[in-house]
Amino acid sequence: MRTLIENGTIVTASDVTPADVLVENETIALIGHGLGKLVGKVDRTIDAKGKYLLPGGIDGHTHLDMPFGGTKSADDFESGTIAAACGGTTTVVDFAIQPQGGALAQGLADWHGKAEGKAAIDYAFHMIVREVKPSTLAEMDQLVKHEGVTSFKLFTAYPGVFMVDDASIFRALQKTGENGGLVCMHAENGGVIDVLIEQALAAGHTEPKWHALTRPARLEAEATNRVIALAEVAKVPIYIVHLSASEALAEVREARDRGVAAYAETCPQYLFLSHDNYEEPGFDGAKYVMSPPLRPKGNEKGLWQGLRQDDLQLVSTDHCPFCMKEQKELGKKDFSKIPNGAPGLETRMSLLWDGGVRAKQIDLNRFVQLTATAPAKLFGLYPRKGTIAVGSDADIVVWDPEKKVTLSAKSLHMKVDYNPYEGRKVVGAAETVLARGDVVYEAGQYVGKKGRGRFVKRSARAVA
Ligand code: URP
Ligand code: ZN
Ligand code: ZN
Repeated sequence: MRTLIENGTIVTASDVTPADVLVENETIALIGHGLGKLVGKVDRTIDAKGKYLLPGGIDGHTHLDMPFGGTKSADDFESGTIAAACGGTTTVVDFAIQPQGGALAQGLADWHGKAEGKAAIDYAFHMIVREVKPSTLAEMDQLVKHEGVTSFKLFTAYPGVFMVDDASIFRALQKTGENGGLVCMHAENGGVIDVLIEQALAAGHTEPKWHALTRPARLEAEATNRVIALAEVAKVPIYIVHLSASEALAEVREARDRGVAAYAETCPQYLFLSHDNYEEPGFDGAKYVMSPPLRPKGNEKGLWQGLRQDDLQLVSTDHCPFCMKEQKELGKKDFSKIPNGAPGLETRMSLLWDGGVRAKQIDLNRFVQLTATAPAKLFGLYPRKGTIAVGSDADIVVWDPEKKVTLSAKSLHMKVDYNPYEGRKVVGAAETVLARGDVVYEAGQYVGKKGRGRFVKRSARAVA
């Protein structure tokens, strides 16, 4: 199958170049000018005049089909990856979970079972480690060396569910020093948060906003500082997931300025929503219950600065949707029982284009870096994914920078009964999406095939 994309402007993390792209089967075969006259017969031509050609988005943080908070995230690998494709994302890195008392291998097998035959786009896995035994450390080697799972998420939050102690985190970090893996940290002080939750409930505070009021920014900053210190002593890189507070970012910046290999991502919700959303009437504040929580207005200014100055390297979604009906409602009488998480996989690219590039917070190249190239590099997918280059997978988004979209749960493909950005008008959206050479989205429709997405083995770190 040969597809020629003509007249577009390729944007990579470094360049903006008008050029044609020839796709042969699954990869990019040729990039140049006037390819229509040079390459002979093709099966399909896409006219991308006035459009950008972007590397397919890579969302480095999703939770599809995830058991959590007494229920399960609303998108499985079928609906979640269809939504991703429609939004211009062509690869997700989802979090497999070590079962309680079980082996990493079991968690990995569970996640392969959830994704195989369902995914519309390519996918990879991080592994959530909830218990660090000697056998777990040995398994980490196996995952990195043989299974293509080269990153591990550990938590300083959610006591009794995912939280591990500092010694466990330290051992896991040291292990990645040997095997080239990367530890990703959920950094909030879970023990202290639990005390604050207990005290809030005892005082009769049950509404959703108390989720945020019991998770202060200081406790995110404290945990961020602590886990970076552990990585520094272990002499290994560390990656902070879903960083929300400028105060936590200051810890990352301070460490980076000292030469520590600390990396961090933020998410659209921390750039475009705020604590004010918890004040929405009735139980609507539950839509925004996620951890870390939304921060007060003004906090996002520091995050944008971090994105520009490379103290934040990625924008991922932490896509973990729960419907208001029957799921978020579990916490109607007690905010601590509201399942934590929100949808975001389908809206990341448009939100960041509209509120980032169009709003002149970041430029075109930085947009590509944050949404595709940096996740590919940090998570061992580059250069197969994350750029537009000869030999790379043909994951290409024909991006219409002027397309007007009103975000709404009704028209989006995520299987969740609300959208945090309901009614928000954005400019900039995918027109056509190719995933490994297949057109999976065009003319406003998902046109891919269930199960065409493949598991992608990721590489370990090549450098410290
Ligand atoms: O609220 C969140 N973030 N839910 C998903 C689980 C996690 O901590 O990433
Ligand atoms: Zn987390
Ligand atoms: Zn998450």
